[in-house]
Amino acid sequence: MIDPMDVVLVGATGAVGQEMLRVLEQRAFPVRQLRAIASPRSAGGTVTFRGQALTLQAPSASVFAGAAVALFSAGSSIALEWGPIGAAAGCLIVDNSSAFRMDDDVPLVVPEVNGHRIPPRGGAVVANPNCSTIQMLMALKPLHDLAGLEHIVVSTYQAISGKGARAVDEFERQQRALLAGENPPTEILPGVLAGNLLADWKHEPSGFSEEEIKIVAESRKILEIPGLRISPTCVRVPVRNAHSQSVWVRFRRPITRAEAIACLRAAPGVVVDDRIGPGQHPQPRQVSGSDAVAVGRIRQDLDDPQALSLWIVGDNLRKGAALNAVQIAERAFGVTPPTSA
Ligand SMILES: NC(=O)c1ccc[n+]([C@@H]2O[C@H](COP(=O)([O-])OP(=O)(O)OC[C@H]3O[C@@H](n4cnc5c(N)ncnc54)[C@H](OP(=O)(O)O)[C@@H]3O)[C@@H](O)[C@H]2O)c1
Repeated sequence: MIDPMDVVLVGATGAVGQEMLRVLEQRAFPVRQLRAIASPRSAGGTVTFRGQALTLQAPSASVFAGAAVALFSAGSSIALEWGPIGAAAGCLIVDNSSAFRMDDDVPLVVPEVNGHRIPPRGGAVVANPNCSTIQMLMALKPLHDLAGLEHIVVSTYQAISGKGARAVDEFERQQRALLAGENPPTEILPGVLAGNLLADWKHEPSGFSEEEIKIVAESRKILEIPGLRISPTCVRVPVRNAHSQSVWVRFRRPITRAEAIACLRAAPGVVVDDRIGPGQHPQPRQVSGSDAVAVGRIRQDLDDPQALSLWIVGDNLRKGAALNAVQIAERAFGVTPPTSA
């Protein structure tokens, strides 16, 4: 039995922060006091945890005093400003932004993939990978252990919740505007997503988007394969929640559909959908709200016995962010969630 601890949640009003509150409650994380932090704009408002209204505070050094863990989901600048202050106060910082992910001294962790990198207690920073990286590696790491990854070609179909609460709101207003025959608003998004597709991330001079580069760099770091070949294309789709990915992957040795299915069935946090037929595959509407990453449409390549095609769907707010962060805290403090969680 672990003693209840004080927990700081930075970004408590956001898309990930709201999911964090649900995950902490559902997994009965041993919270003595939850300190809910948001921007100064939201200070004095409330969020709900275990049926109680918690008053929101703006960040300050005092909120970390005596806390065991601080879960951050407020973006990179807030993480860079307050993460080191929280760590110096003795908290384990688990950060969802990209601020620390590629820092050599900071573990970048998916517990099912490289949980051995989690430091045992407080006073350290652990980075949560990008949501797309997490769900892809949940499926590919077990297959890597079986047959050795050689080249990954991934195309993503990413939900709007991955861009935060204000983007979800704008997307819904865009949908209503289109139905009303009005001009859709584009203050948050760089274009119209309703009824459309967008690559809405910042782009680098190479032409790749930041999201694409994150999948490559983060996967290499987590798997500890610096030269792994990964060819990404990231696209935002007009889906509210749960990211989908089409993945073609070549291995170092031949691998069959049956071997891949057996391997993924044994993988923690993965569910296999081996149905074949129209509409018979993991879908964001069904996977949204689930903890497990769903893998379906597992196909042997038509010409290459060393390659497979897969369809991977995961809830970006849960396993892609909040759940992964809480699992890191659980592992660090030896907390076992109830089997029903
Ligand atoms: N959405 C996803 O699927 C996902 C997945 C993986 C990682 N992430 C990462 O997680 C982080 C949060 O994403 P999100 O989607 O939850 O964003 P979001 O919905 O926009 O939420 C941002 C949160 O940060 C808070 N915040 C903003 N400025 C602040 C300040 N000066 N001080 C303290 N808090 C401040 C906001 O509070 P107010 O409400 O007061 O503005 C809000 O609670 C980002 O780094 C994102 O890249 C997101």
